[in-house]
Amino acid sequence: MTGDELVTRAEALAPRAYAPYSRYFVGASVLARDGRVFDGVNVENAAYPLGVCAERTAISAAAGAGLRPGELEAIGITASPCGGCRQWLHEWRLERVYFRRDDDSIAEYIPADLLPDTWELPEA
Ligand code: THU
Repeated sequence: MTGDELVTRAEALAPRAYAPYSRYFVGASVLARDGRVFDGVNVENAAYPLGVCAERTAISAAAGAGLRPGELEAIGITASPCGGCRQWLHEWRLERVYFRRDDDSIAEYIPADLLPDTWELPEA
């Protein structure tokens, strides 16, 4: 799947987001190395900080199917990922990140460029 196809897929599922508070509907589709695609939308909560981003629900779906960091190849998102999601993209070793820019073009990044000098949990 190309980056364009991943973003288009994410855009198709964004209306499924549960975003009654912000009304900002986000979709994310993750392509695994084995060809499977996992989808996610943002899911908000009346206790606002408990809401989760689309990127995290997509990666959580992959985790629930048994996938682990290094087994996900690319992600397509309807918008630029927030700072917290960039940390997830780093941890899950995504190779490529695609999202729709405001000017309608598709941005392509590697996670290291979205989050330089990443933090790692020191070895115990
Ligand atoms: N949101 C995402 O789903 N992904 C991001 O990377 C940015 C923000 C969601 C969270 C919240 O439900 C809504 O967008 C407004 O912040």
